Amino acid sequence: MSSPANVLLIEDDASAASALRRVLADEGYHVTVVGRGDDALSRSEANVFDVVVTDLRLPGLDGMELVRRLHAARPRLPIILMTAHGTTDTAIEATKQGAYDYLLKPFEMEELIELVAKACASSRFMSEPLEMGDSLTPHDAIIGNSRLMQELYKEIGRVAAKPVTVLIRGETGTGKELVARALYQYSDRANAPFVAVNCAAIPETLLESELFGHERGAFTGADMRRIGRFEQANGGTLFLDEIGDLSLSTQAKLLRVLQEKCIQRLGGKETISVNVRVIAATHRDLEMAIKEKLFREDLFYRLSVVIVAVPSLRLRPEDIPILVKYFIQRYSVELGIPQSSIQAEAVQLLQSQPWPGNVRELENVVQQTLLLARGYVLGADHVRQVLARTAQSLPGTDQALTGYVTDLLANAQNGKDGRIYTRAIEQLERELFGQAINLAHGNQAKAARWLGVSRLTMREKLNRFGLHPSQDKTASDQW
Ligand SMILES: Nc1ncnc2c1ncn2[C@@H]1O[C@H](COP(=O)(O)OP(=O)(O)OP(=O)(O)O)[C@@H](O)[C@H]1O
Ligand SMILES: [Mg+2]
Repeated sequence: MSSPANVLLIEDDASAASALRRVLADEGYHVTVVGRGDDALSRSEANVFDVVVTDLRLPGLDGMELVRRLHAARPRLPIILMTAHGTTDTAIEATKQGAYDYLLKPFEMEELIELVAKACASSRFMSEPLEMGDSLTPHDAIIGNSRLMQELYKEIGRVAAKPVTVLIRGETGTGKELVARALYQYSDRANAPFVAVNCAAIPETLLESELFGHERGAFTGADMRRIGRFEQANGGTLFLDEIGDLSLSTQAKLLRVLQEKCIQRLGGKETISVNVRVIAATHRDLEMAIKEKLFREDLFYRLSVVIVAVPSLRLRPEDIPILVKYFIQRYSVELGIPQSSIQAEAVQLLQSQPWPGNVRELENVVQQTLLLARGYVLGADHVRQVLARTAQSLPGTDQALTGYVTDLLANAQNGKDGRIYTRAIEQLERELFGQAINLAHGNQAKAARWLGVSRLTMREKLNRFGLHPSQDKTASDQW
């Protein structure tokens, strides 16, 4: 979409440097290579980089000191450390100092690519200003002029700079993540890091260690210390996405952290005070979850000091024309299709839809319509075809699934099976993860990327279902 991201690669071994540069350049990054730590520092003063990838042992200035100085100068610049086994402790220490993440050598190139992509997204998230309203920019923006959206902008303006916890609510696809980003960018912590955790994408067993960190030996498999996201976000903002998906035990721990403003790593005795502004989001009905005893009422009150509600798209159809225009402009560039316009009738058709998936769904429909129209004016027929396709895709592809569910329910009705929900989800997961890992020839990072889950989730599911991949026993397994 925008210009290629700039990566500063610091590696003193010439052959390693050239291999890494090639891989990153193939992914479309603009790569600058330097071999010394002190050179890296002066380069980064003169140029704007989106991500830094650095070796830990360097001539001139070692990686640890480099992290410290770079992070102090540019706190929003993500730094990825490449480190050998013997130096893991230093790398962990560096995360505490503000490094974004580290890779254990030897690692797969897939791992590097995945991490750099994540770091770039995070860098853009923090540094690229998010516009609001009706500006037809090719960059990320919150689009919409309706009264409801105007109110939302006002609310963002009112609460962004206050150091309070904010809960963002809204149906799926309404733009909660964009709102979180706006709250961050307009806060007085906009120069400090923004760290995001998707609570739904990380298995329950690993989430607490992700949030609070752990000491070596805290549980089976905890072979080294880990710095949690709270500690990493110290001085900045922590975005807890899908907070409605937290287990009750993690909710209790989170509540304590919010009240006491300090954490304890799992298995650790030390109390570490953290200064973190929490922004949380959920599409779930938390009041209902409280009634069902799935969400703690005290945590809800703690989180909802300020609630920002993002309106559903069907409550603001007057925003649809401008959203459509924005997506046409944006995706024409991205898909390499000549800019085209859209007929009024097609826009009306889009305005009359219910949009249960909100802006995300509209965005998908516009993308598909663009592809269908191939540079010609987008007409109502194009839109109709795309809408029909999406409507059909559910029942059409899922006849087998419907039959399967019917059988399961029959078993439940005649008392043969009392756990059909768990069983169905497990079977689907086993199939999904099994097929993905086979197709990826055992490369967990790749399979996880395809499925849109974290590598931790991937690993947990593979263990759970006994799907032991043959390869990729290196860096991703250590992560
Ligand atoms: N007002 C808006 N203007 C422009 N794009 C938007 C707007 N709202 C949402 N989008 C786009 O729609 C998609 C979904 O937005 P986002 O991920 O923020 O939704 P969400 O509320 O977090 O959804 P979920 O609950 O499913 O996580 C993104 O691609 C986002 O850029
Ligand atoms: Mg979201």
